[in-house]
Amino acid sequence: MTRLVAGNWKMNGSLAANRDLLDGLMAVPGVEMAVCVPYPYLAQLLERPAGVALGAQDVSEFEAGAYTGEVSAGMLAEFGCRYVIVGHSERRALFGEDDAVVGRKARAALAHGLVPIVCVGETLAERDEGRVMAVIGRQLAAVLDALGVAAMAQVVVAYEPVWAIGIGRSASVEQVGEVHAAIRSWLAGQGVAAAAVRLLYGGSMKADNAAALFAVPDVDGGLVGGASLVAADFMVISRAAGGGV
Ligand code: 13P
Repeated sequence: MTRLVAGNWKMNGSLAANRDLLDGLMAVPGVEMAVCVPYPYLAQLLERPAGVALGAQDVSEFEAGAYTGEVSAGMLAEFGCRYVIVGHSERRALFGEDDAVVGRKARAALAHGLVPIVCVGETLAERDEGRVMAVIGRQLAAVLDALGVAAMAQVVVAYEPVWAIGIGRSASVEQVGEVHAAIRSWLAGQGVAAAAVRLLYGGSMKADNAAALFAVPDVDGGLVGGASLVAADFMVISRAAGGGV
């Protein structure tokens, strides 16, 4: 399947910095690229390099109404978003999002034709306790409950071990391979068309480790934080996704 390399800018950027960054991005044949930007910059990104899709980093579970500060899936669709990240570990840890909310956000996204990038992953303590798939299975089950088996095949799943985010060192290829295979088999076990689900890896994916990570079976792309803010690095990662160097 076509690999997806999605940049998660997190709460970074400015009009000027975004312009510079976008100037350095161009489509890579055979790879889908996306940038998930802070809400205020969606309008700026209406103009962007061809072949780079647009995404947001969160979405309201609600349709419309008295929800101060929230942004609906319909609004994101209106601004040309194709993707929206839901359940990022930073939102779970810092903003109190639980599994059920993440499921409802994924449902709201799909209802407006957006593709949710559902983030799952364990903390270091959970890994040390041998609970990696128990945690990920619980996180995925809430999304499956909200969507049902057929719609679940339309989401992108991003495996982001919390302990590998923002530290400059990714999980090992063995760890990534093991968890990605387990996620695919978990989905298949629930009756989801698992072969169709893109599984991204995220957590310190960089220019110098991307090729090795993409060589791992079941890695169908990457969710890139820090390195997506540097155009040259994001391009190296995207080319690596396409099999180039
Ligand atoms: P880093 O690539 O900066 O580790 O961030 C990963 C991430 O959280 C992407 O969503």
